[in-house]
Amino acid sequence: MTTVQTPQPQKAVALGRHLLDVDSLGAEGIDRVLEEALSEALRATSLRGKTVVNFFYEASTRTRLSFEIAAKRLGADVINVSSGESSVTKGESLVDTARTLEALGADAVVLRHPEPGAAYLMARYFKGSVLNAGDGRHAHPTQALLDLLTLRQSFGDLRGLRVAIVGDIEHSRVARSTTVGLLLCGADVRLCGPRTLLPPRGWLETFPRSDRGGRVTQTASMGDALRDAHAVMALRMQGERQARSLLPDPKEFVRLYGLTRERLKELAPDALVMHPGPANEGVEIAPGLMDAPNSLISMQVTNGVLVRMAVLRLLLGGNGE
Ligand code: CP
Repeated sequence: MTTVQTPQPQKAVALGRHLLDVDSLGAEGIDRVLEEALSEALRATSLRGKTVVNFFYEASTRTRLSFEIAAKRLGADVINVSSGESSVTKGESLVDTARTLEALGADAVVLRHPEPGAAYLMARYFKGSVLNAGDGRHAHPTQALLDLLTLRQSFGDLRGLRVAIVGDIEHSRVARSTTVGLLLCGADVRLCGPRTLLPPRGWLETFPRSDRGGRVTQTASMGDALRDAHAVMALRMQGERQARSLLPDPKEFVRLYGLTRERLKELAPDALVMHPGPANEGVEIAPGLMDAPNSLISMQVTNGVLVRMAVLRLLLGGNGE
């Protein structure tokens, strides 16, 4: 396992009212959330009297449940709504939904939506806090934060850490948000997939940087991506965001890009395996690897509750300013 320095305590930074992406948190904002997630103060927080609405226009297991568990552990009232059981089915717009939730007295809306930018739009019309739980292919900030917490607990400081992210990069909000978070924390990220699932190269220039020295590269070669990497994250094929199949033969994807025990030998010794879930075992990750000793996948899910408690506390508990 890589020996790296533990980060020094940071001066508290303001998070603002919403959590819409990782970019606007910056390196110090990320540090603040991760410190909060591990703090004793988190367990003593009470959000009693606050109402958190989980509004999901897309399916979710991990994100919705962990936001619900997080809010309930903090004593908040939680209401879960899916678009199929709301007045969205009668044509109500996102803006009117925001106004309605506001009039009902919600303090926070956790929003998952298939369209990029949906959480930003909601934030313009909702006076409480909006937490982006995934907007199309754009961003999934709490997933990035839980990935960063998991890597920090495993490696310490992320500066110089080499992380490969493999699969459907083009359609993955996790790929973008986790890459932004890793870069801001000073890690080197290798994005890897078939050329049809890699975004245009200019995309890499759009990532924000910090003074911690992270770099991002993109490759279609698994060998180049995995060589001496400290961690690898496999991504699911995002069929729901592909208008047509972008792979001539899915079996070729499994052969060329599926994570297998054999492929893991190309990584650095003691390297660790991640997946944001949901996973398709036998496609992007071989059966048995998800619960192997070097897998961080369960830890990622568990950390999802801590990170979501931390952001709820920082946004609603009067501790984020
Ligand atoms: N990683 C993630 O967002 O999983 P869910 O779709 O189950 O929430």
